[in-house]
Amino acid sequence: MKKALIICTSPRSGSNSTLLASQFAAGAEDAGLSVETVLLADSEPGFCQACYYCLSHSGQCFQQDIMNSIREKLVEADVLVFATPVYFYGMSGQMKTFIDRTIAFYKRIAAREVYLIATSGDPRSSAVDGTIKGLQGFIECLGDGAKLAGVVLGTGVSEAGDARHSAAYDEAYQMGRSIQP
Ligand SMILES: Cc1cc2nc3c(=O)[nH]c(=O)nc-3n(C[C@H](O)[C@H](O)[C@H](O)COP(=O)(O)O)c2cc1C
Repeated sequence: MKKALIICTSPRSGSNSTLLASQFAAGAEDAGLSVETVLLADSEPGFCQACYYCLSHSGQCFQQDIMNSIREKLVEADVLVFATPVYFYGMSGQMKTFIDRTIAFYKRIAAREVYLIATSGDPRSSAVDGTIKGLQGFIECLGDGAKLAGVVLGTGVSEAGDARHSAAYDEAYQMGRSIQP
């Protein structure tokens, strides 16, 4: 059974991207995957300090936070899903910080399928372009065969909970449901 790890990076309660992520999770579970969701708002990782302590300590960061506790799950997951609000036409700082903190072990990440769920107030699909580009940089670093397998565009949603009434609500479920278990 494939394992999916969903990383929700919005800090706000009633978050649109987290709502879509829960739809994606429901679809993936119905498809037969084992799904775990991590809410970064519960335990935000600290910034990478570029000290490279991790490289001489088996990938362990000197900062005792969520990155150390989920590192092996991140390495072993078959499917990675990032859920983020669009902030100034890019990914959230929380998502970027999370990605930066994989510096010691990103080459061990097994997942070849990466999904993105992004929400923006701007209704244009181009509102997510910068976020997609940023994530693609990370995916390229994962190496051969890693690809952006799908994007849920939750555009035109500003207030918390707006995504429930958007087309993306069902699309997120369907995208999760479409994954081969
Ligand atoms: C700091 C900040 C920056 C934002 N920048 C943008 C932006 O550049 N483009 C946009 O369309 N919406 C922008 N928004 C609106 C959010 O993307 C939108 O409210 C989204 O639904 C938030 O997702 P969430 O509920 O998962 O946090 C911004 C919101 C904040 C708080």
